[in-house]
Amino acid sequence: YLTKAEKFMEHLNKNITSSRDTSSESIWQRSLEARIPGTADINQDHQIYDTLIVGAGITGVTTALMLQKAGQRCLIVEARNIAFGTTGGTTAHLNTFFDATYPEIEHDFGTEAAKLVAQGGKDAISIVKGFVENLNIDCDFEYKTGWLYSQSEKESKELNDILESAQEAGVDVGVAAQNGVPIVCDQVIAFENQAQFHPLKYLQALVKEFKSLGGVLIEGNRIQKSSFNDGIHTAEAELGSFRARNLFYATHIPPGVNLLSFRCAPYRSYVLGARLRDDNYPEGLSYDMQEPYHYLRTHVIDGQKYLIVGGEDHKTGHGDPVKSFENLRDYTESYFNIESIDYQWSAQYYSSVDGLPYIGKLPGVTEDIYVATGFNGNGMTFGTLSAKVISDLILENESAYSELFDPARMKPIAGFTEFVKENVDVAWRFVADRFSAEDMPSLQDLEPGQGMVTVYGDDQVAIYKDELGNITALNPVCTHAGCIVHFNDAEQSWDCPCHGGRYDLTGKVLTGPPTKNLESVPVNLPVTEIKP
Ligand code: FES
Repeated sequence: YLTKAEKFMEHLNKNITSSRDTSSESIWQRSLEARIPGTADINQDHQIYDTLIVGAGITGVTTALMLQKAGQRCLIVEARNIAFGTTGGTTAHLNTFFDATYPEIEHDFGTEAAKLVAQGGKDAISIVKGFVENLNIDCDFEYKTGWLYSQSEKESKELNDILESAQEAGVDVGVAAQNGVPIVCDQVIAFENQAQFHPLKYLQALVKEFKSLGGVLIEGNRIQKSSFNDGIHTAEAELGSFRARNLFYATHIPPGVNLLSFRCAPYRSYVLGARLRDDNYPEGLSYDMQEPYHYLRTHVIDGQKYLIVGGEDHKTGHGDPVKSFENLRDYTESYFNIESIDYQWSAQYYSSVDGLPYIGKLPGVTEDIYVATGFNGNGMTFGTLSAKVISDLILENESAYSELFDPARMKPIAGFTEFVKENVDVAWRFVADRFSAEDMPSLQDLEPGQGMVTVYGDDQVAIYKDELGNITALNPVCTHAGCIVHFNDAEQSWDCPCHGGRYDLTGKVLTGPPTKNLESVPVNLPVTEIKP
């Protein structure tokens, strides 16, 4: 007979085998010396917390720390481990300009909104800087100049519009003579007081402070759903249930099918960490304006400089991850004298319909559930800003940002086209994937280390062949809302093209919104028949 806590320990040891939601390792993971573990004690379920935060990425942990510092009793419940998701795979830029450009924000939301977004970037950077100073965090935080550069007439026109709108919004930006990288360009603008840091060192320090203030972190326990009665949220997890007066899903999209599932599109972004033969490392943060775009910076890990190049993004489950890595390598090699590429990894982010994040109360439900998502490629900045917005909403019932980032907003109309497009995409997958009957190659044709969805008997089956020729078969129907998963050969995962759910090779959930694993399908094939 095992006690609940012992069962949980067993569960934790079984489940926390990897520290990120991909098979690739980010530069931050390898350089991290010690992990600060969460507690294994789930005998918390008799308590009623002030706030339950689901997810231990930068958004959840920063919010939890702010609330705990303000005197609340907070609990973080994380499905896997700290920074398992996007925070462990970010390139850790802090900016006052965003993927949604200032002219776009001004056009769709107005001049005052553009000013507020600019202020949000400044607030986020000063929050991170404040924690770094006050907690004496050694996380390589540095202010940097951010150079945005054009490489065509069309891009130069766009760049000038960005300069004008950003200045009008109060951003410290001006024309510059260089772009900080050995890449030929037409025009450059320089954003001052941007920043970079080591995200895991930073997050670990925040967790340490949170726990020292009495906050509780539980890892390895996925919240499946929640209910609300008499002013109390009850969240049901894989093991145990937890109660709190306030509930915040810092998980991108909350579990279940909700309005955010249709207002956010998941993207994967690709990153390389390379050593150079010369010292031509970027001086600051450099960004081109190509489609898909690229961004470059330098980080020193254990005394060694690394060039970090990111980009080649595509919608999750829709692009070709191997090709994205190839393109990124070609791009990097064409401008830099590469000694070795020591890291390559990918990570996921979510884009909102209208370009701005959704931070506030989940729309379409009667109870107050807080959410924060749609950060685009600006996760460290908006994740930190979300902590301020959500903690202000919980503590004061108001925030200067609440109207602008309200998840219930349906404006502007300009966003409607994109909204429809995302929905059409989702609808098409629901129908076409379920009834596709294309010819599938035989299992013998499947290379080791590859997977595919094929027809087997009367059903579609997700098949994976490992290096020894052993086959794993899964039901390919995503447990979130029924789309068919696609094999991601670069990350050795099954990715859902609808809302970004991802599963490992055994079918275990890597990335929400699904909360249930893919079913295992028995395959009665003689092993000899399927060996490579
Ligand atoms: Fe929504 Fe798969 S159907 S993530």
